[in-house]
Amino acid sequence: MSKAVILGTGSCLPKRVVTNAELEQMVDTSDEWVTTRTGIKNRHIAGEGELNYQLAAKAARRALAVTGIEPQEIDLIIVATLSPHMIMPSTACFVQAEIGAVNAFAYDINAACAGFTYGLDLASQYIQNRPNMKILLIGSETLSARVNWEDRNTCVLFGDGAGAVILGSSSDDRGVMGSRLHSDGNSWHMLCMDSPESQNPDLRYDDYVGPLIRMNGSEIFKQAVRMMEDAVNTLLREQGVTMDEISILIPHQANIRILKKLRERLGLPEERVFINLSKYGNTSAASIPIALDEAHRQGRLQRGDLVLLCTFGGGLTWGSLLLRW
Ligand code: UT7
Repeated sequence: MSKAVILGTGSCLPKRVVTNAELEQMVDTSDEWVTTRTGIKNRHIAGEGELNYQLAAKAARRALAVTGIEPQEIDLIIVATLSPHMIMPSTACFVQAEIGAVNAFAYDINAACAGFTYGLDLASQYIQNRPNMKILLIGSETLSARVNWEDRNTCVLFGDGAGAVILGSSSDDRGVMGSRLHSDGNSWHMLCMDSPESQNPDLRYDDYVGPLIRMNGSEIFKQAVRMMEDAVNTLLREQGVTMDEISILIPHQANIRILKKLRERLGLPEERVFINLSKYGNTSAASIPIALDEAHRQGRLQRGDLVLLCTFGGGLTWGSLLLRW
């Protein structure tokens, strides 16, 4: 059976970098608090010409350039996002038009921060059934438009950006080996983007800004460590792989303390966990593909390496995915 293999990666971050010191001017916070409690120092915030689909398209073009594949050869575009350019059409359709992938069908998925991992699992099912397919999978967010900039509990955490991969089928044992994905809709209220006005149009007023992110951070924190640990251990057991065989863990980048706890519980040394959180903050569905691209460009992913992904986000949604690079 054909496995889905990543043929190329790309990413795009907005030009503007916002430091913790700048946030000190906006809300009651400090560089010291944000650094020690989250590990975040900077985040990139989108400006003119950096709409969600424009960041996504730039990341896609970079991934295509690595592979030498032309946009017209792409059969399917999936964009994982919780901050789409519009509710309709999908951000994926905007990307299609922007890059000229005229032969692709295109749609978005929303599994919050787990979106890219869910998307990789989905793309891998397509390729198992139709090995000739070339799939462009993107995680892309402009969360700055959906953050309440007066809420210090959340506004210091998030950033904008996009990461893309091109998938094809492998002719050897490389590719996506398996995944363990989960959701818990009963706990939706722990992390969501809502407002009473968005649920009831009668309540809307003239300067309505739409739904904004809110989160019970400490509860999410506890669940994230436990659920990701469980999803990783279960997947490795199912695949008959030990932690010693894992070359690198690329986790969703939300909080340095979550990643430290997870790493310790999994018994992984620091050098086998990829972390770039301090530069970008939490970019939700974009965090893993941005990290994958960076790890790839740094030479940290070598042919044949076992690469483990794990993620956790609103929904709740979480999971793990194992692939041979
Ligand atoms: O991507 C999806 C998954 N998301 C996550 O995994 C995020 C998970 N959660 C977290 O990363 C952490 O819970 C946070 C970073 C959000 C918060 O850290 P915490 O250690 O759980 O702090 P807390 O929410 O328990 O708040 C501790 C204190 C509170 O003050 P009081 O009530 O003790 O007086 C907060 O009001 O820290 C206060 N606080 C802040 N202080 C300065 C919250 N945000 C800030 C801030 N600056 N930005």
